[in-house]
Amino acid sequence: MPNLLNLRKFVAPEIIFGAGARMLVGKYAQQFSVEKALLVTDPGVIAAGWLEDVQQSLQQNGIAYHVFADVSANPRSTEVMLGAEVYHQHSCNIIIAIGGGSPMDCAKGIGIVVTNNLDILKFEGVDKIQLPVPPLIFIPTTAGSSADVSQFCIIANQQERVKIAIISKSIVPDVSLIDTETTLTMDPYLTACTGIDALVHAIEAFVSTGSGVLTDMYALEAIKLIRQHLPGLIKDPTNVALKENIMLASMKSGLAFSNAILGAVHAMAHSLGGYLDLAHGECNAMLLEHVINYNFDSAVDRYKPVAEAMGIEMKGLTSNAIKHQLIASIETLKKEVGIMNQLRQKGVHASDIPILSKKAVQDACLITNPRKATAEDIKIIFEEAM
Ligand SMILES: [Fe+2]
Repeated sequence: MPNLLNLRKFVAPEIIFGAGARMLVGKYAQQFSVEKALLVTDPGVIAAGWLEDVQQSLQQNGIAYHVFADVSANPRSTEVMLGAEVYHQHSCNIIIAIGGGSPMDCAKGIGIVVTNNLDILKFEGVDKIQLPVPPLIFIPTTAGSSADVSQFCIIANQQERVKIAIISKSIVPDVSLIDTETTLTMDPYLTACTGIDALVHAIEAFVSTGSGVLTDMYALEAIKLIRQHLPGLIKDPTNVALKENIMLASMKSGLAFSNAILGAVHAMAHSLGGYLDLAHGECNAMLLEHVINYNFDSAVDRYKPVAEAMGIEMKGLTSNAIKHQLIASIETLKKEVGIMNQLRQKGVHASDIPILSKKAVQDACLITNPRKATAEDIKIIFEEAM
């Protein structure tokens, strides 16, 4: 009798990858027989000029739209609820997002609320969405969050100073238009942080208790691409070939983590980001090696291919030596891309750690971490990362 608990699923949007993909948005919207789109974005994306191309494509295909750009860097539940009101006011019937993780997550949240008619905070956790959301077409402008291919939506609850994770295949976008031209306007530090976020997605997905053959190949390929190309891209930010490789890595890590789920780095990063309103990629970067140090001995066989993908020559090394080399290789990569901060420099105080740990153990991402972790364990990891 096969063990049904070992079975794995794989969900993904229809993906169009390459320069100019954004121009196809009107054509794809038309396929859903819709009249009016809620166009979710943020002021930075508008200033970069990417919204105009999308508007033009919609006009050419006879789709009306209303722009909603009231989205913060860590999208808030209040913004989602406002967006849902605007969606109804303008009688929209499709949601199109163009931007980084924030507008994309906000757009998912709006989609959930407009059909399920409850506060977005009620959907925290896995598979809590009852009714299907409107069609979603996403155009990412950063290479890292992968919200355009994932079944994750992260929303900040400002009152509780926490970020909630909503995980459901209902919010895998229908279409992801991954346009390698749109990341050309990212600044180097944002490129570094989102690139390390993608690396964390790939590593956590590979060592997750939810990993399997359908996601492993994507995770390992993403790790290799990021290790090889991210430092070069920071030095040469307009190099189109390097950009394409990092965008591809982000997509692959997204497909991996969306299906295999994540682990302690993300549980802790959500807690940190929600409590102190810090950038997500940077939170992950400050925690990664400390979580590997905690997890490694519980998942040695899973971390070995990760180390290999990071370029470590494994021959003759003991498990302990591999662990140290893996941690060192991550520290080196972070230095190469210019991420030097530790928690203390970002305004985290020792007195914050108990509450941060308490919130982290409640995060759904911790369920698939390869080593079980209590609030006390998480507290020690936070202390080490200070
Ligand atoms: Fe992430």
